Parts: sequence; structure tokens; C-alpha cells
Amino acid sequence: MTAQDITTPRIVVLVSGSGSNLQALINATRERDFPGEIVAVGCNRPDAYALERAKQAGIETFTVDHTLFDSREGFDVALKAEIERHSPDVLVLAGFMRILTADFVRAFHGIMLNIHPSLLPKYTGLNTHQRALDAGDETHGVSIHFVTEDLDGGPVIAQAEVNIASDDTAETLAGKVLTKEHILYPIVLRWFCEGRLQLLGDQACFDGHPIPRPMVLSAD
Ligand code: GRF
Repeated sequence: MTAQDITTPRIVVLVSGSGSNLQALINATRERDFPGEIVAVGCNRPDAYALERAKQAGIETFTVDHTLFDSREGFDVALKAEIERHSPDVLVLAGFMRILTADFVRAFHGIMLNIHPSLLPKYTGLNTHQRALDAGDETHGVSIHFVTEDLDGGPVIAQAEVNIASDDTAETLAGKVLTKEHILYPIVLRWFCEGRLQLLGDQACFDGHPIPRPMVLSAD
């Protein structure tokens, strides 16, 4: 084992779908100076394209199919066991579409990040793009936050905004937001791997100081 093996943060990514965010993270972590390595990708859907992306990148994958479990608790126990085999320093949810139990969230307290396609605290849950349009919002965007037991409610680290155009549909808006997601997640993951981000109590901290408001990448 080399010195680098001992110190390079181990990243496990959880996915459910197409995995475009996973691809952005794979690309970023493949850059020579990236301070972390994706050691495994876990998925709850055996047919998710994200698994194909991981395999093409030569990254180990595991699948825990939620349809084979009677309870959320049973699924989470099995998922946790698979994740722990890889001893992650950071657990990255990238389009992972399962609600996690409190026990699971506690097990990875302070090392679990999630990306959510809205400017939290607006629009937790699903259909965020349509809801932003229905509300007549002028801006929309994406948030990256620490995961706590509060669904989509953990401390927000960073956000990227997009302007909503009068002819935007939920689909065009989703595309604009996704482009920002692919920029923002690698930045935040880099900060975490560099040891610059912590969750202290229920407060996100950057370089040891509480983040009073999320850091924002403004709309173009
Ligand atoms: C993204 O919009 C993410 O914010 C949301 O699910 C979508 C996943 O897309 N949680 P992908 O699988 O990364 O392409």
C-alpha cells in the first residue's frame, strides 16, 4: 500500500437513474489533482444506465434491488452493509431516488451529500421544475446539502441558479438545471475531499467556519 492509498478519500456514489451527475463526478475525479477516488457505485435498480457508466469507467458496482425487500428498514440494512464493505469517507447521493431511514442516515452522519434540483428550502420532494414554473418564479436552480434525517432539509452547502425564461417548460428547465448540477457537484465534492467541509451539529462549516448562507453560483 502506498502513502496515497492511505490518504486518498474513498468516495461511494449511490444512483438510481441515468447517472449524468455520476458521469460528471467520474470525469472530475479522473483529473490528476482530484483529492478523492470513486471506489464503488451502488444502485437500487438493476437496469439503471448509471451502472453502465460506472462499469465503462472500471469502477466496482453493487445493486440492492429495493423491490426484493418487504420493508424500507430491510432494504436500508442491506444497502448499508454493501456500502460499508467499501469503507467510504464520503457517500454521495447522485439522483438516488429512495427515502432513507433514520438509522441509515445516522450511520453516515456528516459524510453524506445529496443534490436536489431546486433552490432549497423551496420545493423539497418531486416535480421541482414544474412547481417553480407554476409559482411564476424568475429563478430556479440546484442545491447540494448534507443529508440529515430531515428529507431534503439538511444544511445547504452550495447552490447554482438559473434564470427562468418565459418559454421554459419543465423539460427545458430541467436541462438548464442539470448543466449546473454537473458543474456544482464536482466542486463541492472536491471541497469535502480536501477536508474543507464539515457538518458540526446541524451546521455546515467551510474551513472551520459556519456557512451562514449557501454559497451561490449566480445565473449567467
Ligand atoms: C438530478 O436532477 C438530481 O438533481 C435529481 O435526480 C436527477 C438525477 O439525474 N436528484 P442523473 O441520474 O444524475 O442524470
